[in-house]
Amino acid sequence: MPETIQLTVSPVGEPNASIVRAASLLREGKLVAFPTETVYGLGADATNPAAVAAIFAAKERPASDPLIVHIADLEQLASVVAETPPLALRLAERFWPGPLTLVLPRAELIPPNVTAGGPTVGVRMPASLVAQKLLRAAAVPVAAPSANRFMRTSPTTAAHVLADLDGRIDCVLDGGPCAVGMESTVLDLTTTPPTVLRPGAVTLEALHEVAPEIVGPVAPDAGAVARAPGQMKRHYAPRTRLLVFAGQEERALAALRAEAEIALTRGERVGALLPDNEISALDGLDARIESLGADLAAISHNLYAALRALDDAGLDLLLTHTYDDEGLGLALNDRLRRAAGGSLRSVQ
Ligand code: TXA
Ligand code: MG
Repeated sequence: MPETIQLTVSPVGEPNASIVRAASLLREGKLVAFPTETVYGLGADATNPAAVAAIFAAKERPASDPLIVHIADLEQLASVVAETPPLALRLAERFWPGPLTLVLPRAELIPPNVTAGGPTVGVRMPASLVAQKLLRAAAVPVAAPSANRFMRTSPTTAAHVLADLDGRIDCVLDGGPCAVGMESTVLDLTTTPPTVLRPGAVTLEALHEVAPEIVGPVAPDAGAVARAPGQMKRHYAPRTRLLVFAGQEERALAALRAEAEIALTRGERVGALLPDNEISALDGLDARIESLGADLAAISHNLYAALRALDDAGLDLLLTHTYDDEGLGLALNDRLRRAAGGSLRSVQ
């Protein structure tokens, strides 16, 4: 694999030379990481099985974990799925372009290695303007998982992509930090009722406004069969040990502080990820704190960058807590649980 080409794209200026170059690399079967509104994706021509195979190799991702196909418009949807049920069109009308992935029957155009051999394909139309321009210029559907090494934290900047994949991919298109910072919601429309396989940036409450019959995600600890094959218990994970406290807010914070004190007494270096209004809970302690923001949208936006920053800081222990299971809290708690290796420290 040659050196990774770094292209910078500015949101203004037409035609954009970086986008034209990245699109032609995609058409040549090369791997191009690009920004979406959720996280950076590692893209390849979804109709080219060799290019798709290269994604799995670069990420060291098992072939059993299917990829999302990114499309520019509804015409392209018709070419990648075998069937478009009315509910898919209603959801597309409300949430596309945007962070919702619909799982539908796969069309012949999509080679089996995109879908891990399965009969369904995940499809989404991203809202990021850079992603849209790239998809339009490439004029092929683009298969793209998050542009991180397998099991690691999703990248929300081009620097995160390079930290994991420099020298392993052909190109990264730098469009600045991702606006949303949390992956798309994955919704399976081939089941009755439709099922959320991965909670994400489109909340269950918003989905219910369109289709109240949609069933929420099954907690990974509930013993359910992994229907979204990528839904491992450990995922999105920093290398540093991470403890995630769950329970009533004040008690969780008190337990977190107590844990920090014990670790500091042992001579360990401690980091914490906290919403802005909770930073004072660690007053007087020599802990490195990443403030996540004021509300769930800000916390979703900042979480992965904060995890990477603390993971790179040479600490021994990272501490944080979960949120109420409402709105974006559902996706945040899912990612936090996986980042902690599948289990939470319950303080009820
Ligand atoms: O926001 C996102 O979804 C980002 C950006 C780049 O679009 N992509 C992303 O891809 O997060 P990835 O591969 O890291 O996660 C995709 C998830 C995996 O859990 C995978 O198992 C699931 O979607 N998935 C994809 N196709 C599927 C299918 N046909 N059936 C069930 N699950 C599927
Ligand atoms: Mg991923």
